[in-house]
Amino acid sequence: MRLSNEIVRRASVVTYEAEINICSYAERGKILLRVTPKFLIIDAIDEGQGIPDIELAMKEGYSTATDKIRQMGFGAGMGLANIKNFSDTFRIISEVGKGTHLKMIIRIN
Ligand SMILES: Nc1ncnc2c1ncn2[C@@H]1O[C@H](COP(=O)(O)OP(=O)(O)OP(=O)(O)O)[C@@H](O)[C@H]1O
Ligand SMILES: [Mg+2]
Repeated sequence: MRLSNEIVRRASVVTYEAEINICSYAERGKILLRVTPKFLIIDAIDEGQGIPDIELAMKEGYSTATDKIRQMGFGAGMGLANIKNFSDTFRIISEVGKGTHLKMIIRIN
Protein backbone atom coordinates (compact mmCIF):
# COMPACT_ATOMS: atom_id res chain seq x y z
CA MET A 1 0.00 0.00 0.00
CA ARG A 2 1.36 3.40 -0.94
CA LEU A 3 0.80 6.21 1.57
CA SER A 4 0.97 9.82 0.48
CA ASN A 5 3.74 12.09 1.72
CA GLU A 6 1.11 14.05 3.64
CA ILE A 7 -0.02 10.96 5.58
CA VAL A 8 3.56 9.90 6.30
CA ARG A 9 4.36 13.43 7.51
CA ARG A 10 1.38 13.48 9.87
CA ALA A 11 2.14 9.99 11.21
CA SER A 12 5.77 10.99 11.78
CA VAL A 13 4.84 14.13 13.71
CA VAL A 14 2.39 12.44 16.07
CA THR A 15 4.70 9.48 16.68
CA TYR A 16 7.70 11.71 17.29
CA GLU A 17 5.86 13.96 19.75
CA ALA A 18 4.49 10.93 21.63
CA GLU A 19 7.94 9.36 21.77
CA ILE A 20 9.61 12.48 23.15
CA ASN A 21 6.90 12.75 25.81
CA ILE A 22 7.46 9.14 26.88
CA CYS A 23 11.21 9.78 27.15
CA SER A 24 10.64 13.07 29.01
CA TYR A 25 7.83 12.19 31.41
CA ALA A 26 7.48 8.40 31.72
CA GLU A 27 9.55 5.48 32.89
CA ARG A 28 9.06 3.18 29.94
CA GLY A 29 6.69 2.80 27.04
CA LYS A 30 5.95 1.43 23.62
CA ILE A 31 4.46 2.69 20.39
CA LEU A 32 2.33 0.42 18.24
CA LEU A 33 1.38 1.12 14.64
CA ARG A 34 -1.40 -0.69 12.85
CA VAL A 35 -2.37 -0.15 9.24
CA THR A 36 -5.84 -0.99 7.99
CA PRO A 37 -7.25 -0.25 4.53
CA LYS A 38 -8.80 2.96 5.90
CA PHE A 39 -6.73 4.04 8.91
CA LEU A 40 -3.34 4.29 10.53
CA ILE A 41 -3.83 3.54 14.21
CA ILE A 42 -1.00 4.58 16.50
CA ASP A 43 -1.01 3.75 20.21
CA ALA A 44 1.61 5.21 22.56
CA ILE A 45 1.41 3.44 25.88
CA ASP A 46 3.63 4.22 28.84
CA GLU A 47 4.16 3.44 32.47
CA GLY A 48 4.97 6.54 34.46
CA GLN A 49 3.66 9.51 36.39
CA GLY A 50 0.52 9.99 34.30
CA ILE A 51 -1.20 13.31 33.57
CA PRO A 52 -3.25 14.80 36.45
CA ASP A 53 -5.14 17.37 34.35
CA ILE A 54 -5.46 16.37 30.70
CA GLU A 55 -7.32 19.53 29.66
CA LEU A 56 -4.50 21.67 31.05
CA ALA A 57 -1.80 19.48 29.50
CA MET A 58 -3.47 19.91 26.10
CA LYS A 59 -3.23 23.72 26.28
CA GLU A 60 -0.68 25.26 23.94
CA GLY A 61 2.26 26.54 25.98
CA TYR A 62 1.59 24.49 29.10
CA SER A 63 4.62 22.44 30.10
CA THR A 64 6.14 20.87 33.19
CA ALA A 65 9.44 20.22 31.40
CA THR A 66 12.50 20.39 33.63
CA ASP A 67 15.56 22.52 32.81
CA LYS A 68 17.28 19.39 31.53
CA ILE A 69 14.48 18.71 29.05
CA ARG A 70 14.39 22.37 27.98
CA GLN A 71 18.15 22.36 27.38
CA MET A 72 17.56 19.60 24.84
CA GLY A 73 15.17 21.88 22.98
CA PHE A 74 11.85 20.54 24.25
CA GLY A 75 9.27 22.00 26.59
CA ALA A 76 7.40 24.50 24.43
CA GLY A 77 4.15 22.87 25.48
CA MET A 78 3.16 22.22 21.87
CA GLY A 79 3.47 18.44 21.56
CA LEU A 80 -0.03 17.33 22.54
CA ALA A 81 -1.61 20.23 20.63
CA ASN A 82 0.35 19.18 17.53
CA ILE A 83 -0.72 15.58 17.97
CA LYS A 84 -4.34 16.71 18.13
CA ASN A 85 -3.97 18.85 14.99
CA PHE A 86 -2.24 16.13 13.00
CA SER A 87 -4.62 13.29 13.97
CA ASP A 88 -8.18 12.75 12.77
CA THR A 89 -9.07 11.18 16.10
CA PHE A 90 -7.05 11.67 19.28
CA ARG A 91 -7.76 10.26 22.71
CA ILE A 92 -5.80 10.36 25.96
CA ILE A 93 -6.38 8.02 28.84
CA SER A 94 -4.15 8.61 31.83
CA GLU A 95 -3.95 7.50 35.41
CA VAL A 96 -1.74 9.37 37.86
CA GLY A 97 1.07 7.16 39.13
CA LYS A 98 0.30 4.48 36.55
CA GLY A 99 0.77 5.82 33.05
CA THR A 100 -0.67 7.25 29.89
CA HIS A 101 -2.19 5.87 26.71
CA LEU A 102 -2.45 8.05 23.61
CA LYS A 103 -4.52 6.79 20.70
CA MET A 104 -4.04 8.57 17.39
CA ILE A 105 -5.99 7.66 14.29
CA ILE A 106 -5.19 9.05 10.84
CA ARG A 107 -7.56 8.37 7.98
CA ILE A 108 -5.70 7.23 4.87
CA ASN A 109 -8.59 6.52 2.53
N1 LIG B 1 3.36 10.63 28.55
C1 LIG B 1 3.23 11.59 29.49
N2 LIG B 1 3.28 11.26 30.81
C2 LIG B 1 3.14 12.22 31.76
N3 LIG B 1 2.97 13.54 31.50
C3 LIG B 1 2.92 13.91 30.21
C4 LIG B 1 3.04 12.97 29.14
N4 LIG B 1 2.93 13.64 27.97
C5 LIG B 1 2.73 14.92 28.29
N5 LIG B 1 2.72 15.10 29.64
C6 LIG B 1 2.48 16.37 30.36
O1 LIG B 1 1.78 17.26 29.51
C7 LIG B 1 2.55 18.46 29.32
C8 LIG B 1 2.34 18.98 27.91
O2 LIG B 1 2.89 18.07 26.96
P1 LIG B 1 3.30 18.59 25.52
O3 LIG B 1 3.90 17.48 24.74
O4 LIG B 1 2.13 19.30 24.92
O5 LIG B 1 4.39 19.72 25.82
P2 LIG B 1 5.91 19.54 26.33
O6 LIG B 1 6.34 18.10 26.17
O7 LIG B 1 5.98 20.10 27.69
O8 LIG B 1 6.68 20.47 25.30
P3 LIG B 1 6.96 20.15 23.74
O9 LIG B 1 6.19 18.90 23.38
O10 LIG B 1 6.48 21.34 22.99
O11 LIG B 1 8.44 19.94 23.64
C9 LIG B 1 3.98 18.05 29.63
O12 LIG B 1 4.77 19.15 30.00
C10 LIG B 1 3.76 17.07 30.78
O13 LIG B 1 3.48 17.77 31.99
MG1 LIG C 1 6.02 17.09 24.34
